[in-house]
Amino acid sequence: MSAAKKRVAVLISGRGSNMAALIEASKAPDYPAEIVLVVSNKADAAGLASASAQGIKTAVVDHRDFAHRETFDAEIDRLLKSYRIDMVCLAGFMRLLTPDFVAGWRDRMINIHPSLLPAFKGLHTHRRALEAGVKLAGCTVHFVRSDMDDGPIIIQAAVPVLDTDTEDALSARILAAEHQIYPRALELVSAGKVQVRNERVIRLDAKAAEDTGVLMCDGGV
Ligand code: GRF
Repeated sequence: MSAAKKRVAVLISGRGSNMAALIEASKAPDYPAEIVLVVSNKADAAGLASASAQGIKTAVVDHRDFAHRETFDAEIDRLLKSYRIDMVCLAGFMRLLTPDFVAGWRDRMINIHPSLLPAFKGLHTHRRALEAGVKLAGCTVHFVRSDMDDGPIIIQAAVPVLDTDTEDALSARILAAEHQIYPRALELVSAGKVQVRNERVIRLDAKAAEDTGVLMCDGGV
């Protein structure tokens, strides 16, 4: 019998297009994870409605109701445990998590960031990539550590940067790549095909040699 699917919660703050990509991928019968809960720190996050429309449970934990980050994180933790969550996916979740929370979910919490980490951590990545004049941009799925946008890298996708690019054009090209790699990363982690060793992600399965954790996207150009 195949292993039980991992129970996944997705944490969002807004649009939720990566969340939607994870939900879509999880519909495949052999996908090793199911999205059982979507949590937002903002009641008006558009992603909440699209998750509900798919029959997925949603919850709002408004950070403004908590005096300290620790108590906010404790409430999220309580919620995740009440749903018997195995894995957490951060998908545009705009809150920094406390070291205790991060430690509690170590190697069971992953994040997507719209840059080729460790370049361009933080906000306004697309604008900063354009200003820096890089010729390749991209996105990264990584295990979460306490430092922002830090942690062992699971998959990266690279896309070209064009001379004519605006912030919007570059971010749309990267977003399309995000939607490809996030479901793939969650699959690898949920199926136990990767392991963190010395803060690097190692592939454990036979396909490791042909599937290097890198995706080159032409972004339609
Ligand atoms: C994505 O670009 C993601 O990489 C970043 O925040 C954005 C969220 O977009 N962390 P969405 O809510 O998934 O559409």
